[in-house]
Amino acid sequence: MRFSVLVTLFGVGAVLMAVAVVFMYGSDGSGEPRTPAEHGRRLFRLQGCASCHAIGGGISRGPDLAGLIPRLADRLTDEAYRAHLDSLQVARPDVYAFFAPRYEGIFSAQGDERIEAWFVQHLKNPRFDHFTGLMPDYDHLTEDQIERLTAFIMTLK
Ligand code: HEC
Repeated sequence: MRFSVLVTLFGVGAVLMAVAVVFMYGSDGSGEPRTPAEHGRRLFRLQGCASCHAIGGGISRGPDLAGLIPRLADRLTDEAYRAHLDSLQVARPDVYAFFAPRYEGIFSAQGDERIEAWFVQHLKNPRFDHFTGLMPDYDHLTEDQIERLTAFIMTLK
């Protein structure tokens, strides 16, 4: 009798241990995202970004995003980029007036914050600086999704 109680306790203990192990480590094997950047990496795939953007080689309809952040850092501090935006003021003053607050938002930030501000605008409407660009709008994304995608994009150094 006592022996069977022991066996039962042992069995229950083993099951509890197994549940605890699955609970603690189960997400490792299945690749469940943990950090905002990991969630962002998954969104990059789910939202179809990966169908146009390779990251470091492979077929890419849009620009390959490997090394994106240093490239953006250079672009966003380059006079030529500002001049490119200003050219819109002459060609399409109405469109320039519409986008001007976005340009202000970007240039009033510095460093990584400027890159993040640029990326948020790029998602909302990629035409704000790629005037004749082909990338679709991602204006439907939630604040959370934008934050997570941004966290992932910022890892592309
Ligand atoms: C249908 C193809 C397509 C999809 C889908 C797409 N892009 Fe793009 N993306 C482009 C193209 C093409 C460009 C170049 C600029 C343009 O034409 O608008 C671009 C530009 C970019 C750039 C700027 C790259 C640079 O060097 O200037 C980033 C960052 C970017 N896309 C991120 C994303 C993210 C994040 C998603 C998903 C939320 C996404 N793209 C979805 C085609 C796409």
